[in-house]
Amino acid sequence: MKIIAPSVLSADFARLTEQIQTVEKAGADWLHLDVMDGKFVPNISFGQPVLRSIRAVTALPLDVHLMIEDPGPYLESFAQSGANILTIHLEACVHLHRNIQQIKALGLQAGVAINPHTPVESLWPLLSDLDLVCLMSVNPGFGGQSFIPSTMNKLASLNRQREEHELAFRIEIDGGVDLQNAASLIQAGADVLVAGNSVFGQADAALAVRRFKAIL
Ligand code: DX5
Ligand code: ZN
Repeated sequence: MKIIAPSVLSADFARLTEQIQTVEKAGADWLHLDVMDGKFVPNISFGQPVLRSIRAVTALPLDVHLMIEDPGPYLESFAQSGANILTIHLEACVHLHRNIQQIKALGLQAGVAINPHTPVESLWPLLSDLDLVCLMSVNPGFGGQSFIPSTMNKLASLNRQREEHELAFRIEIDGGVDLQNAASLIQAGADVLVAGNSVFGQADAALAVRRFKAIL
């Protein structure tokens, strides 16, 4: 199953419940939540209290993307706040393998994200431990940026590695995804498309979700 995960970073935070329920009704599969600490990325977004409020108003799986330095001490509180999938950054963890095990011990799906400059091969030793790999196709920190084309090479390489080793992790693409590049990403092996600006940045978010679903 291919998944569309609208990112609330581009939503109107004063109308969050309404906006989330709009995309849920339109057929969104997951909700993508970008947590930023102003240190790992040059922006600050929201944390556990907002996550808890969102958990209360939607049945969608919450795909929480932690763009924070040294996430280890916070994993449990994000789990308690309603996350279903916790994705941490390779670049933000000294003991990445330990952090992945912590996420799994909390009963959640474990994901690792890598920045555009990080070689995808850095993940090879960990792939069998992962439920999800998130390839950042923009430099993390902001919505509405342009897709970085070299992501396609990393995606092809990761998909090949997954096939060769018969692994089952999902591949997620995050940043600059739109209705123009969605089909080629799916074709190249992506399973989860995160879409911020191309859903919540549109006048009709429900229509945008339905258009993505028609492509997936
Ligand atoms: C960027 C975030 C993304 C962001 C994507 O740091 O990780 O999830 O919301 O936004 P768009 O789809 O607008 O590029
Ligand atoms: Zn994200």
